[in-house]
Amino acid sequence: MKIAVYPGSFDPVTNGHLDIIKRAASLCEELYVAVLENPVKNSLFTIEERVSMLQEALKEFDNVKVEPFRGLLIDYVKQTGAQLIIRGLRAVSDYEYELQMALANKKLDPEIETVFLVANTEYSFLSSSLVKELAAFKGELNELVPSCVKHKLQEKMKER
Ligand code: COA
Repeated sequence: MKIAVYPGSFDPVTNGHLDIIKRAASLCEELYVAVLENPVKNSLFTIEERVSMLQEALKEFDNVKVEPFRGLLIDYVKQTGAQLIIRGLRAVSDYEYELQMALANKKLDPEIETVFLVANTEYSFLSSSLVKELAAFKGELNELVPSCVKHKLQEKMKER
């Protein structure tokens, strides 16, 4: 049994991410969901909000831990003692970017493997940007994000 890290920006988490997380959690002993704190990226949600929405959505999963991270992913992975990085593949268009990242991480630490899980077809069109755009124009979000995220998105859009 292995320790794994599933990294991302999660601005915000969607049902597509949750599907990957739940499947990954059943394949490993411990799963760290690592939320990138990137001061350069203009996120809608703060790092605290992104972590808190994930914690709320994943509270029933005993072997899943949500943490923020900064800097290089590989350094965070080593800190957790994980051997695996999990990434989801939604379509062929994800492949080039994911391959580059996996190869770069492999170069930085050959002991750590990247494992790809194929996204469920139900969520293959989904992204955080799409969800934010739908929220901005009051589109239906019910099947795309968990209810805690839906409420947070609606609050955020009212503030703007
Ligand atoms: N379901 C729904 N959406 C998904 C998804 C899935 N299964 N998988 C990816 N996405 C979407 C995300 O919502 C996001 O959409 P958006 O662009 O509309 O916001 C997009 O795909 C990419 O998101 P994410 O998986 O969060 O990747 P990222 O590019 O934001 O972050 C990191 C990737 C955090 C893993 C990477 O940037 C990183 O490791 N950074 C640290 C610095 C580092 O080590 N760099 C060197 C790496 S070689």
